[in-house]
Amino acid sequence: APSGPLTGRRVVVTAGGTREPLDPVRYLGNRSSGKQGFALAEQAATAGAAVHLIAGITESQPPAGHPNITVERIETAAELQQAVHRRAADADVLIMAAAVADFRPAEYAAAKIKNNNDDAAPTITLSRNPDILAETVQRRTETGTGPAVIIGFAAETGDDRAEPLALAQQKLARKGCDLLVLNRVGENLVFGREDTEIHILASESAQAVLGQDVPVHFAGGKLQAAGVVVDCAAT
Ligand code: C5P
Repeated sequence: APSGPLTGRRVVVTAGGTREPLDPVRYLGNRSSGKQGFALAEQAATAGAAVHLIAGITESQPPAGHPNITVERIETAAELQQAVHRRAADADVLIMAAAVADFRPAEYAAAKIKNNNDDAAPTITLSRNPDILAETVQRRTETGTGPAVIIGFAAETGDDRAEPLALAQQKLARKGCDLLVLNRVGENLVFGREDTEIHILASESAQAVLGQDVPVHFAGGKLQAAGVVVDCAAT
């Protein structure tokens, strides 16, 4: 039997992007590859956890044939919300690595939106999606149940280092999660790549448990980065 720092614990990982349909053939999506989330699922399983991976739209295939990982596929933020709601209830750790669409088309057109050359371009109105991470934290506060460790991600663009860290610190406080993993993104950074650079920020209480200087910084492969995050989640 596997043994490691997460033996006997249930870990839910979300990975990949969501796809928000506009009509039967079109959607709003994002550039998440799913790689970081898949790496997190693998490292949590290697650490002995029973992992449930909720995967959205991804470039690569989720880890297959791993005895400790079950995989569920979703497409929209609404489907992800349902899946997380169902699975977080009896999870010890929730890792929200998925790139959830913040907005979706306000209306779904049941028939393909027509392109009439003489007509003006249509306007797409957006609605705000629920913040799944924030609402899971809130439910934990209200009910006293739910994952002991909730981890959020922040993809920030920005040229200097100070600004993304300050934004991530604000996001940590706003979402109320225990750990927040910041990665800098841009045209040639992070998305779909093997390498990444992360900073792990911690809430005050998580910082007391971690007992190490935060933010924890790591640059290198996504699998090793996932190992650093899982180590933080295991303490
Ligand atoms: O606000 P932002 O999208 O930058 O937050 C990123 C973090 O929040 C990620 O952990 C992501 O999975 C989560 N998120 C969410 N629901 C949303 C948007 C983001 O859970 N609607």
